[in-house]
Amino acid sequence: MKKYLITGGAGFIGSNLAFALAEERKAGVVVLDNFSSGNYKNLMAFTGDIIADDIQSRAWFGKVGAVDAVFHEAAITDTTVTDQRKMMEINVDGFRNVLEFALQAGVKRVVYASSAGVYGNGHCPMKEDQTPTPENVYGFSKAIMDNVAREFAARHKDMTLVGLRYFNVYGPREYYKGHAASMMFQLYHQMKAGKRPRIFKFGEQVRDFVYVKDIVRGNLNALDAERSGVCNLGSGNPGNFNEVVEALNKAMGLDLAPEYFDNPYSFYQNKTQADFRQAKALLNYRPQWNLADGIADYVKIMGETKI
Ligand SMILES: NC(=O)c1ccc[n+]([C@@H]2O[C@H](COP(=O)([O-])OP(=O)(O)OC[C@H]3O[C@@H](n4cnc5c(N)ncnc54)[C@H](O)[C@@H]3O)[C@@H](O)[C@H]2O)c1
Repeated sequence: MKKYLITGGAGFIGSNLAFALAEERKAGVVVLDNFSSGNYKNLMAFTGDIIADDIQSRAWFGKVGAVDAVFHEAAITDTTVTDQRKMMEINVDGFRNVLEFALQAGVKRVVYASSAGVYGNGHCPMKEDQTPTPENVYGFSKAIMDNVAREFAARHKDMTLVGLRYFNVYGPREYYKGHAASMMFQLYHQMKAGKRPRIFKFGEQVRDFVYVKDIVRGNLNALDAERSGVCNLGSGNPGNFNEVVEALNKAMGLDLAPEYFDNPYSFYQNKTQADFRQAKALLNYRPQWNLADGIADYVKIMGETKI
C-alpha cells in the first residue's frame, strides 16, 4: 500500500486530499499540522495518523516513517497577513524544511501548493513563465517557494518537485478558515441567513474560481508527472462576482440582489485567469467543474454538512 505525507492536512485542501487518497487510491495517509488554521473536524472519519507539529521545526522528521511522496499544503493562507518575516519564515523556511525532510527520508516526489497570488494583477491569461508580480507578501512567499523548488530540483535530479499554482479554490471543509475562506463560502452563509450577498462594487471583478475536487484531481495527477515543474490549477472558466451570486441564487433557490460596497484593499487582484496548457501537458489536467456546476455541487454538499 502506498503511503503519503500531507502537511497542512487538517486544512481545507489538505483534508479533501487526505480523503481522496484514502478512498480513491486506497493509500495510507499521515497528516502533519499545527492546527493554526486547520481543525480536527475537517478530518472526522479519517483513518490515518496525525502528527501535531510545525513545519518550522524539524522535530517531526523522525515521526513520519516511510512515505512514497509528500503533499505540502501547510502555510499561512490568510492573504491579508502583512507580517513579512512571519510569512517568509513559515511559508518559505517551512518549505525548505519539508524539502530537507524528503531528501533525508529518500522521498523522491514532493507536490507543493503554490498560488495564483504570484501573478498579482499580471497579464491574463496567466502563464507560468511570466515574471511574478505579487501584490502582497503572501504571493511573494509563494513566488520564492517556486524559486527554491526550481533550484532544489536542479540540484537533486533524482527527485520530482511539482508546484501547483492554485487559483481561487472553493468547496467543502473551508469553515475553519474564517474570514480567509473563499467568497463562495462567505456568500453562501450570508444568503443562507436570508441576507443580501455583499460584494465589492460593482461585481465586475473576474476570478478563475476552481472547485476543490479539480484541485484534488490535479494533486493526484501530479503523482504521475514525469518531470519537475510548476503548473497553474484553475478552472479555465473564470466568472465575475455577479455571476457567482447568480449561480448561488440558482443553486439555493433564492433571488437575492447583491449589496455592493467599496473594496477596502489596495492590494487586490481584479482579474485572474489560468492558462492551463502546462498543467495539461505535465499533469494531464482537465478541469471537470465549471462555475455553475461547481457551485451547484457545493451548495448540495453544504446542505448536508456543517463544514
Ligand atoms: N484556498 C485557496 O484558494 C488557495 C489558493 C492558492 C493557494 N493555496 C494554498 O494551498 C494550501 C492549502 O490552503 P488551504 O486553503 O487548504 O488553507 P488552510 O488554512 O485551510 O490549510 C492550511 C493548513 O496548514 C496548517 N498550517 C499552517 N501553518 C503551519 C505550520 N507552520 N506547520 C504545520 N501546519 C501548518 C494549518 O493549520 C492548516 O490546517 C496553502 O499552501 C495555500 O497557500 C490555497
